[in-house]
Amino acid sequence: MPDAVLRHGDNELTLPSHVGTEGETAIDIGNLRSSLGLVTVDRGFANTAEGTSSVTYINGEEGILRYRGYPIDQLAEHASFLEVSYLLQYGDLPANDELAAYEEEITRHTLLREDVKHLFEAFPHSAHPMQILASATSALATYYPDALDPLDEEAVDISARRLIAKTPTMIAWSYKYRVHQPYVYPDNDLDYASNFLKMMFAVPAEDFIANPVVTRTLNMLLILHADHGQNCSSSAVRLVGSGQANIFSSVAAGIHALSGPLHGGANQSVLEMLTRIVESGDTIDTVIKRAKDKDDPFRLMGFGHRVYKNFDPRAQILKKAAEDVLKALGVDDPLLDLAMELEDIALSDEYFVERKLYPNVDFYSGIIYRAMGFSTDMFTVLFAMGRLPGWIAQWRELSSDPDTKIFRPRQLYTGPAERPFIARDDR
Ligand code: CMC
Repeated sequence: MPDAVLRHGDNELTLPSHVGTEGETAIDIGNLRSSLGLVTVDRGFANTAEGTSSVTYINGEEGILRYRGYPIDQLAEHASFLEVSYLLQYGDLPANDELAAYEEEITRHTLLREDVKHLFEAFPHSAHPMQILASATSALATYYPDALDPLDEEAVDISARRLIAKTPTMIAWSYKYRVHQPYVYPDNDLDYASNFLKMMFAVPAEDFIANPVVTRTLNMLLILHADHGQNCSSSAVRLVGSGQANIFSSVAAGIHALSGPLHGGANQSVLEMLTRIVESGDTIDTVIKRAKDKDDPFRLMGFGHRVYKNFDPRAQILKKAAEDVLKALGVDDPLLDLAMELEDIALSDEYFVERKLYPNVDFYSGIIYRAMGFSTDMFTVLFAMGRLPGWIAQWRELSSDPDTKIFRPRQLYTGPAERPFIARDDR
């Protein structure tokens, strides 16, 4: 691949290029400032790769998503979430005995220290589960001070397993606290998804067996959310990790980043938007008109993506799953019909076509979560539970790379030039 040549005034600089596995080319500007005194501006890092990554490949033009080379549709159909978690972190699908050992280890760490209960109870019952999850994840670090060194591979491994094991417990307990029900302890005879469903929905007074359709669907949803390259929350995890903060603090930062409505919080916003449309009696035309109006901050939630400019392969899988799962569960949800109608109309509208705005992963996931029995404010923590192995894989990749540098972007200063201080009474 030829190098690039940058001309600036009378100066010329040769910039090396690098080619990725799939033929993508990147121009390395690492010497730009030291050679020519220049920096680059790139809003939202739309054109900037911080470094290299071998975890997930996304081709937004062709709607391709692969974890460690494996197509997302194949993983969603055939793998278990813990298998995918192993794949993301260790680079290859586990052999039978490796998977059994991994599952056993995760199962052994599902309990939370009893003291952690007090943490949940310090929150108002109305607290959003994402805030509680971020705080509880951060608090976990205080229980395991001996396993926090990001450069100690063994410590990282055990912390990663603790995180994967305890996150469902933290999420379920935050829900139980919210709905004034007793906490349900993990059941280590169950698989990851069934155990989580039991902790969420069981009550001591009754037996609980998770519906297999719900268990299978949860497994698939977690896999579809498990990684997505350098998205906002994974970049947050990497950024915090680049300062050698411990893995719990780094993941807590990712949870906060995910909570925003432009990122993972969109799944909650989509459902709220659909509900509002039904309740207000607005027509779809009115909604589309508002989404296109530049003077109106309203956006069609669950539409558009920085990377996908053709279709989001996760949304395609979820659209089909929404129909199948609702049918299998005998749920007739008018919001599904509304979502499909909205999608059809948006996809044939010039505004959305021109801007290549398609439904993203969050457009249909909420309708499925709702049919499975989850309340709307739990949707984003479910996204977090799915994304966790991806965050950990990204963090581990960064922390173990000898070429990693602390993230420290440059800026183009546009504030006042130097001026003398003026005493208080003279201003
Ligand atoms: N409704 C209406 N217009 C939109 C939408 C939308 N959902 N998304 C983008 N646009 C317009 C935007 O106004 C802009 O128009 P113009 O060129 O005339 O100024 C153009 O499309 C490009 O949008 P952008 O904001 O520059 O694109 P971006 O890559 O910076 O943002 C996005 C991507 C996902 C934040 C954005 O599409 C959005 O806000 N979508 C709604 C929220 C959402 O569904 N988020 C979930 C994202 S996928 C899962 C995840 O990351 O968690």
